[in-house]
Amino acid sequence: MKSKDLTQIALMVALIIVLGFIPGIPIGIIPVPIILQNFGIILAGLLLGGKKGTIAVAIFILLAAIGLPILSGFRGGLAVVLGPTGGYIFAWLLTPALIAGGIDLMAKLLRQPLNFGWVLLITLIVSILWVYLVAVIWLSYQTHMPFMAALSANGVFIPGDVIKTVIAVIIAVRLNHSLKLNPQIK
Ligand code: BTN
Repeated sequence: MKSKDLTQIALMVALIIVLGFIPGIPIGIIPVPIILQNFGIILAGLLLGGKKGTIAVAIFILLAAIGLPILSGFRGGLAVVLGPTGGYIFAWLLTPALIAGGIDLMAKLLRQPLNFGWVLLITLIVSILWVYLVAVIWLSYQTHMPFMAALSANGVFIPGDVIKTVIAVIIAVRLNHSLKLNPQIK
């Protein structure tokens, strides 16, 4: 891995950490706040791709797990990482690979680089369907809440997560025009 790659990974870890300085907004019905940190996780997949994005997210989770207070609201530690929100955090680990892999697969199937709409669709499927599915399974196991109740409570996050995903895809597509980061994106 080149020093350019290591710099990109370090900058992405720093961005995800900084996004955690913005305190989460509790929603009351489930012990899961509205946060901005997942915007950084989505960007990691879109800008760094599967390998480097996964390394960045893995470093972030590892640092949080060993106790650095870098999760939103200055939380950290293994108990937090494995607590009620642990499913989101685990889902984040595979998020960059799923976004980058999804884009790669669809571009190969269509035999052309993907436009904004395709990149947005794939990223939304991962940032919402994948993350919520894993998160809700873990949340209902941890809190003994019925699966469907935990799932519907997650509906509160949809508007914000759609906005974060749209902004991340706009940034990625624009940067890709000038920097040519991913040949599979138009
Ligand atoms: C943590 O800091 O313990 C993880 C919090 C996870 C919050 C999830 S991420 C997806 C959804 N969208 C939000 O804004 N909050 C939840």
